[in-house]
Amino acid sequence: MILTPLALHYLDNALCLAQKYNADPEIVALGAILHDIALVAKVGTKKDHHINGANLAKELLLKYGYPENKIDLVIGCVINHKSSKNATNIEELCVADADILAHFDNIDMVLDVAEKQGIDSKNILEWCEGDYNDLSENSKSDFRPKYEKFIIETLKRLEDTKNKG
Ligand SMILES: [Fe+2]
Repeated sequence: MILTPLALHYLDNALCLAQKYNADPEIVALGAILHDIALVAKVGTKKDHHINGANLAKELLLKYGYPENKIDLVIGCVINHKSSKNATNIEELCVADADILAHFDNIDMVLDVAEKQGIDSKNILEWCEGDYNDLSENSKSDFRPKYEKFIIETLKRLEDTKNKG
């Protein structure tokens, strides 16, 4: 598996959160690297990628002799990465929050995904608000300025596109 610049950025976010929330950095790093493994490996559908990803990650970690008592912690990060509301421990919360925060650093990706999913410009902001609301309560308040900056930039981009079109 190749770590793209986006994946490295995501990993960096996850490790910053691990430090901030005093989580185990090893579990968070492995959870962050493996969270979308089913999408990368093109196994199953996007809807089930957290479950398929957990199975693939488990196979991989067992194959390389990763300690079994830690495997469940990494798997939990993969299974519960779709929303911080699903997190059952601080490591899972770091991985889920990092996934959302990475969106706020990447307007191009968000606009591209919105277009592919048929989300029109009116509904993009609602969609982004849903993303923001999936953050943990601490991250919501800590990263509110980042989110607001992202929304302002997104509105500018949508306006530019409308004016060009
Ligand atoms: Fe994912």
